Amino acid sequence: MQLIDGKAVSAQMKKEIAEEVAQIKKAGGKIPHLAAVLVGHDGGSETYVASKVRTCEEVGFKSSLIRYEEDVTEEELLACVDRLNNDPDVDGFIVQLPLPKHISEQKIIEAIDYRKDVDGFHPINVGRMSIGLPCFLSATPAGILELLKRYEIETKGKHCVVLGRSNIVGKPMAMLMMQKSYPGDCTVTVCHSRSENLKEMCLNADIIIVALGVPEFLKADMVKEGAVVIDVGTTRMPSSVTKSGFKLTGDVRFDEVSPKCSYITPVPGGVGPMTIISLMRNTLLAGKKEIYK
Ligand code: GUN
Repeated sequence: MQLIDGKAVSAQMKKEIAEEVAQIKKAGGKIPHLAAVLVGHDGGSETYVASKVRTCEEVGFKSSLIRYEEDVTEEELLACVDRLNNDPDVDGFIVQLPLPKHISEQKIIEAIDYRKDVDGFHPINVGRMSIGLPCFLSATPAGILELLKRYEIETKGKHCVVLGRSNIVGKPMAMLMMQKSYPGDCTVTVCHSRSENLKEMCLNADIIIVALGVPEFLKADMVKEGAVVIDVGTTRMPSSVTKSGFKLTGDVRFDEVSPKCSYITPVPGGVGPMTIISLMRNTLLAGKKEIYK
């Protein structure tokens, strides 16, 4: 069993991005600028956005954090998106989700200029991804592809089972794994909360990507000997042991599943660290106008 070290891969990518930013600076080019919009004070969102801003500093990007209280109106938020769309200094921006219930997330996402949509959530980016055109790939699927690539994991002709059908992970992941490319060329099955024969599907899988958000869902009796297991779960469970008062728990019962695997991602330290660095890579591409002019 080989552990897929997302922490190490993301540190390497961070170094690569920082070197490229240093080159841009030296050549007198424009420093990539990422803006993040944060609404309210949700603990998880605060942590993620703080981490995104910190990583921007570490790679040498410019960053801006725009905060609103929980009671911001949809109109105000749309006006903010419009300002960012039209700010020539901002290369890319994200609106951290989830948003308060009185605001339509879809409306906000669709208001973002797809050329600045470094989250890859806009329907134009999703559509372009699904037909294999250059686009901003959403961070988690992009991070998983990068791990498969850097560990040179064979995917061609393999049966990949994706557990979960979210717009952010399950659906794009399934699309990407079936694409005619590397990583890709898989036979893909998507299972979800209504699937009847989920265990049989998993037992037949060479690669299992679990993105259900159900702690320790995947057990040893659902996994074939030699399978590759990618755990996207990051549920915050209360803990009396850790300083933060919570412990990140994956969707895989790691202790019993890992001995059966050829490769597996741990939680924490697997897919998690890759998502922020994928956002940084998108921001670099946005800064260089490499995908859209
Ligand atoms: N909430 C959870 N993950 C994400 C993400 O990747 N982007 C944004 N904008 N919000 C999120």
